[in-house]
Amino acid sequence: MVVADLFIAGTETTATTIRWTLVYLLHNPEVQEKCFREIQEHIGQRRRPSMKDKSSLPNVEATILEVLRRADIGPASLPHAVSHDVQFRGYTFPKEATVIVMLDSVLQDPDVWGDPDNFRPDRFLDDNGKVIKKEEFIPFSLGRRVCLGESMARMELFLFLTTMIQRSKFVPVDGQMPSLDGVIGLTHSPKPFVIKAVPRI
Ligand code: HEM
Repeated sequence: MVVADLFIAGTETTATTIRWTLVYLLHNPEVQEKCFREIQEHIGQRRRPSMKDKSSLPNVEATILEVLRRADIGPASLPHAVSHDVQFRGYTFPKEATVIVMLDSVLQDPDVWGDPDNFRPDRFLDDNGKVIKKEEFIPFSLGRRVCLGESMARMELFLFLTTMIQRSKFVPVDGQMPSLDGVIGLTHSPKPFVIKAVPRI
């Protein structure tokens, strides 16, 4: 069961985030070019990216963070339950009541992000181009039951996406743009779309 949990929780989530990244790269070719140029400058085409490169690629990192925020693949996290009666803001949550925490109320909060509907990786960069850590960035939830695979997911996303952008340019097919509206199922995932990967090397 433990191995099955890791596979189920670990494959759909990361694959869906990669698919959303491709959708947003098609809609924002300037973001794709910025990431490609950064990868070219720091890694080039002769070797594969490694985790050691992460700190040198703030634009790639900011793009991944913005996809995780905007695509919001687990908007309602996982259901929880209270272990004893809890009073909160005048409400009583009786023992064992199911509690569904809406992560998207934070990830898409206009008071926090200003323009949450816009895909804008720069919001995660400071004036010196360094990645900013934001307390409200909670796509992996928070607290004791925070996603157990967060660090693995961050590593996978960095290595897969850096390699993909290094090697291919992603473009629409016959001008068909994928929809930015997702489908809610196990995760919030993009609708099926076609895409062309043009080799860079
Ligand atoms: C982009 C990728 C991922 C996202 C956005 C994500 C998000 C989440 C979220 C929102 C939760 C619910 C936390 C809560 O109950 O409050 C969760 C739980 C969990 N995730 Fe992930 N996850 C990702 C990748 C992974 C990977 C790669 C693994 C394992 C290899 C994994 C394993 C788990 C497990 C086992 C739980 C349940 C933890 C518990 O209940 O204690 N996840 N994840």
